Amino acid sequence: MKKDRSITWQHVDAASLDLKGWKVAVVGGTGGLGRALSKSLAARGASVTVVGQTFRDAGAPGIDFEKADLSLMHEARRVAKALPAEQLDLVVFTTGIFAAPRRQETAEGIERDMAVSYLSRLVLLRELGPRLGKDRPMERAKLKPRVFVMGFPGTGQAGTLGDLNADKSYSAMTVHMNTVAGNEMLVLDAAKRYPHATFFGLNPGLIKTNIRDNFFGKDSFKSRFMESVIGIFTPSPEAYAERITPLLVSPDIEAHSGAMFNQKGFAIEPSPKLADSAHISKFLAESEALVVRARG
Ligand SMILES: NC(=O)c1ccc[n+]([C@@H]2O[C@H](COP(=O)([O-])OP(=O)(O)OC[C@H]3O[C@@H](n4cnc5c(N)ncnc54)[C@H](OP(=O)(O)O)[C@@H]3O)[C@@H](O)[C@H]2O)c1
Repeated sequence: MKKDRSITWQHVDAASLDLKGWKVAVVGGTGGLGRALSKSLAARGASVTVVGQTFRDAGAPGIDFEKADLSLMHEARRVAKALPAEQLDLVVFTTGIFAAPRRQETAEGIERDMAVSYLSRLVLLRELGPRLGKDRPMERAKLKPRVFVMGFPGTGQAGTLGDLNADKSYSAMTVHMNTVAGNEMLVLDAAKRYPHATFFGLNPGLIKTNIRDNFFGKDSFKSRFMESVIGIFTPSPEAYAERITPLLVSPDIEAHSGAMFNQKGFAIEPSPKLADSAHISKFLAESEALVVRARG
């Protein structure tokens, strides 16, 4: 990952932030990094709606829950309609899994990692994008509504066209890298498509969470071993959230829609191959066709 030194912002202490009045949705805010970010934002006064399958913060001040299984595109559409997009100041996408060793398919016929980690975000963005932040009080409308898409941007993934649903052949790594590339493309595309809002990519690097469960097997020895090793060398989700929360609300990045940020919050360059807008159009067109197919 190459740093982009042309984009800088003033790092401040998360504890110094006052986010009273901020309305936030964290899609994937029930677990892992999204949960840590949700708690950090709510602790500074923001009203946060978390979307996920299992609510783990019932009773926590400032956190509401919207239950959804985002492996299903019709659920993604329902959630997008249920969220008060017009009033939102900030949306963070952290939903994700890792592709399983053997292909898994949702009830709508979509490979599961593609559905959860990428296509649900595409559906949500298309529904939320046009409505985002259009009805906010003057004092909060000084900044455009902003969206952060977490994934693994800036790592050189461009995706492989032709079989996004892995119907013809399956490799967990190819599928997952398609979700990585797709998420980076969502940021670059949305920055142009919705100029009334700003869009950013987040690359958290390796952090100990549940993200690899679907690949190694939940509670398996391999999974516990891998996460323990990762946990020794990398920050905790809470430490990452403390570092990144100020970035999420920083006015300094307002003019840089489409930018990506690494684990420490430094701007990084997008993957070089994604400078090709024709490739992005083709990838998104194939993705949208898959979503249409899911309607049956
Ligand atoms: N941790 C890392 O090392 C790492 C590295 C690179 C990139 N990332 C990226 O960071 C993001 C966050 O990952 P994480 O590490 O925080 O993973 P995580 O701990 O597994 O959390 C994933 C989140 O996604 C939600 N989710 C999973 N399946 C869902 C479904 N079918 N419907 C609705 N929600 C669902 C989970 O909610 P429930 O628990 O309620 O199901 C949870 O809130 C992902 O985009 C991931 O690709 C992580």
